[in-house]
Amino acid sequence: MKKTIRLNVNGEEWDVDVEPSDTLLEVLRGKIGIKSPKVGCERGDCGSCTVLLDGKSVRSCLVLAIEADGRGIITVEGLSKDGPNELQRAFIEHNAFQCGFCAPGVVLAVSELLAKRPHPSRDDVKEAISGNLCRCTGYEPIIDAVIDLTAKGEE
Ligand code: FES
Ligand code: FES
Repeated sequence: MKKTIRLNVNGEEWDVDVEPSDTLLEVLRGKIGIKSPKVGCERGDCGSCTVLLDGKSVRSCLVLAIEADGRGIITVEGLSKDGPNELQRAFIEHNAFQCGFCAPGVVLAVSELLAKRPHPSRDDVKEAISGNLCRCTGYEPIIDAVIDLTAKGEE
């Protein structure tokens, strides 16, 4: 039986009718039209569906939409309303990605890290993105981008 839930997505309120079995990933992509969380493994292994739920990164393929009722969700679209933010620009400068499949999840995982730890170590970054699989680029440019960005202003 359908239920109406309210989601705050990137600062906008949405009332959506969902089935009890609908995942947050399905609702974001199919009903709200947010396409940055990608459909990958759909079993929690790849991280391509990562979003921030009340500031904490979650795999949206493993979260039921009804569990997110009344909560706040941030996706990459919410980080870049005025164009790429400084983290995204650092990724671009370091050629940190070749495709858009893993990129949104990695950006959000690093955003969560930087909110807690503005000057992370390389190991902190590795740990933060350890659940986000990238099949093409390798992780070093991602780590370089984050360390370079967060070192600015420290010299
Ligand atoms: Fe959610 Fe892979 S699609 S973790
Ligand atoms: Fe990450 Fe391709 S750049 S999967």
